[in-house]
Amino acid sequence: MPTAAKIILDTDPGGDDSVALLWLLSLVQQGFAELIAVTTAAGNVSAHRTFASASQLLGLLGFAAVPLGRSQGLDTPQADASHIHGADGMGNLAQTLPPPPHSWQTAPTSVDLLVQAIAAHPQEITIVAIAPFTNLAQAEQQHPGILQQAREVVLMAGAVQCPGNVTPTAEFNVWFDPPAAQTVLQSGAQVVVIPLDVTRRLIFTEAMAQAATEAAPTTSLAEFIVSLSRFMRQTALAYRETSGTPGFLIHDAATIAYLFYPELFHFRRVNLQVETLGQWTKGQTVLDDRHGPKATANAWLATEVDTDNFFACLLEDLKTLLALNCDREA
Ligand code: RIB
Ligand code: CA
Repeated sequence: MPTAAKIILDTDPGGDDSVALLWLLSLVQQGFAELIAVTTAAGNVSAHRTFASASQLLGLLGFAAVPLGRSQGLDTPQADASHIHGADGMGNLAQTLPPPPHSWQTAPTSVDLLVQAIAAHPQEITIVAIAPFTNLAQAEQQHPGILQQAREVVLMAGAVQCPGNVTPTAEFNVWFDPPAAQTVLQSGAQVVVIPLDVTRRLIFTEAMAQAATEAAPTTSLAEFIVSLSRFMRQTALAYRETSGTPGFLIHDAATIAYLFYPELFHFRRVNLQVETLGQWTKGQTVLDDRHGPKATANAWLATEVDTDNFFACLLEDLKTLLALNCDREA
């Protein structure tokens, strides 16, 4: 058995965050990863809501003991993506799941969890960041150099040579907090960026949801996956996210695929900057593609994904997750 990767997932559930978390939990239960902590941030919906959703998913699969961090920022309502993910960020299915086992009132902050874990395990922690990068930037600002102490920082971030999904130039995670994204890119950490250019090809269809759950279709987990997929397909079609193909984009799951099936991707070494000031381009990820000497490269950027094998891997791991947990409701 290979050494289990030590992972912290920074997330803002989120329909696609939920798929990423379920995929990760399958790999943890298979012994390929150790989930050190989950840290939550405001993004798709409010910080309180993303915290509760992450807690519910962890509790559903027996991971209530995993430390869960709450955003330390003021939970001021601001632009979110509830029109895509539902008011609760989980396709309005939160009430179908057991209540959250973690308490916001007693939870550590996401920043404290990140800093403590990285400091305790220098060069061993992989940070998977699938939310706006506020927590990571606050950790770096409060403890300069901390992100360089992580093994790797994997971001679902940016739109480089394709349109954005929030503005013509900006992808949501970067758009929500552009200075935070720039702080992470400039941190000197081992940064891997999986942009919209790649993730917009990852359409999770109804047939995939059915295939993943057919062995145990009446479990809470199966019903959650099928119902969430149905909700997300409706909003994806309404917002033209999949060019009319019935399905929804599972952007965040690409980070899990990279970590455990890296052969599915092609990368190039780049210098990437974030526009933090532009009136029309705020949140744009700017690639310096000129030939000749340039500023130091600061990230590996995914350029291609083998979509057929991506979904083959995802579906097998979701089937395994259901099989490993089917007696949980017995
Ligand atoms: O642009 C896609 C990203 O924004 C994903 O992380 C999705 O969950 C949304 O937060
Ligand atoms: Ca997300």
